[in-house]
Amino acid sequence: MKKIAIVGTGYVGLVTGVALSDIGHDVTCVDIDETKVAKMNQGKSPIYEPGLSELMTKNIEKGNLHFTTDHSIAFQNAAAIYIAVGTPERADGSANLDFVQQVARDIAANVSNQGAVVVTKSTVPVGTNKLVKHWITEALDRDITIEVVSNPEFLREGSAVYDTYNGDRIVIGAESEEAAELIEAINKPFGVPVFRTDIESAEMIKYASNAFLAAKISFINEIGTICGKLGANIEDVAAGMGMDKRIGDKFLNAGIGYGGSCFPKDTKALIQIAGGVNHKFDLLESVINVNNKQQQLPLDIAHMVVRGGLEGKKVAMLGLAFKPNTDDMRESASIVLAHKLADLGANITAFDPIAMDNAKRLLPESVHYVASTEEALQDADVAFIVTEWDEFKDLPLTVFEQKMKQPIVIDGRNCYPLSYVETANIDYYSIGRPSVIRAGKSNQPAN
Ligand code: UDX
Repeated sequence: MKKIAIVGTGYVGLVTGVALSDIGHDVTCVDIDETKVAKMNQGKSPIYEPGLSELMTKNIEKGNLHFTTDHSIAFQNAAAIYIAVGTPERADGSANLDFVQQVARDIAANVSNQGAVVVTKSTVPVGTNKLVKHWITEALDRDITIEVVSNPEFLREGSAVYDTYNGDRIVIGAESEEAAELIEAINKPFGVPVFRTDIESAEMIKYASNAFLAAKISFINEIGTICGKLGANIEDVAAGMGMDKRIGDKFLNAGIGYGGSCFPKDTKALIQIAGGVNHKFDLLESVINVNNKQQQLPLDIAHMVVRGGLEGKKVAMLGLAFKPNTDDMRESASIVLAHKLADLGANITAFDPIAMDNAKRLLPESVHYVASTEEALQDADVAFIVTEWDEFKDLPLTVFEQKMKQPIVIDGRNCYPLSYVETANIDYYSIGRPSVIRAGKSNQPAN
């Protein structure tokens, strides 16, 4: 059992801290937000993440998990100090390291353990870990040595707790063999394979992984657009491609693009990192451009199929979060869509099972929020499915028929098999698949 401090209690820090306490370590999470710390001390998670609150309560009761605003308490005798603060995007797309630098200062002021290992979980540009070491040692006024380790996270929101115990790999980048050994030993109970490398490579693994996954999504979305024009079905195409083990069947779901706290930010940051060494990352720039186009798609379809335009029309938005099982709205396709629809004078009624509170801060004020799918669809002229929550996927299509004024459904996440849609009396447009139009209605564009 090791004494561990975690700085920052966002998605990454909190999940990491709670999971490390659950495998038997004595973990203190530190955050500057007093209200949040008070809440977490009662076992209440400030974020929605399946299974997290239960694990928090269990480990607080066991005495393994503590929360404080005081760095000196958290760092007292800590063998490892994890940096898990945000690295938001600057205007030019590069990562803002101000929070990381502040933590480095706080570590210098409060670290008490000789040889303490500072572990960077935050996604930081290549070279940052060495910079962190420099910032700390420069500010240290006592005879204490520290080591740094890059240990990027690969957790998906919505399944972060599951991923912690079932990850594909734990990457440990270190200069010091001893420091790497310590972090490997800390993580051993998770039973996840460990990959050890140098610090810079570990930092790059995180960016390269996210950029590759984003590229996979933009690639399948481009193929989807072409399929849509040629009458092919992207789902079958992706399934056929995915059977090739070299390609793999994951991350081949066409839709209205990726969002969230990582892909949009990390792809832009990697372009900046490449630019810093005079390399123009053409491929990644295209990945981002394709994603921007993809977020516009539902509106392009609506322009073609909603007769008389969208002004004054009742529009239902089903799903607001950037993906299911999270309340995270960051970079969600719903933001682009809602603002464009509001600008066009549409009356938007929105429903999301979890993300509505967060959505209120980001969507236009005119959006009307309701408590159920049925209410959102009532008398609507067109419905947009933005997030593939199970409750939308499980919805009988008769609900669209019965509730909507005109059953025009634009499904940005390909929620229903076309064979099922064909049994319903709706006009259905999805991504990269043939449209299904009500019998007797022509499939001509509206304008
Ligand atoms: C991602 C990475 O998966 C994780 O390893 C990293 O550490 C953080 O970023 P996350 O942002 O939580 O995790 O979500 P993820 O499940 O990867 O999905 C990201 C976005 O891609 C979502 O908007 C999702 O809808 C979209 N996506 C995903 C697709 O459009 N198609 C797919 O096939 C897969």
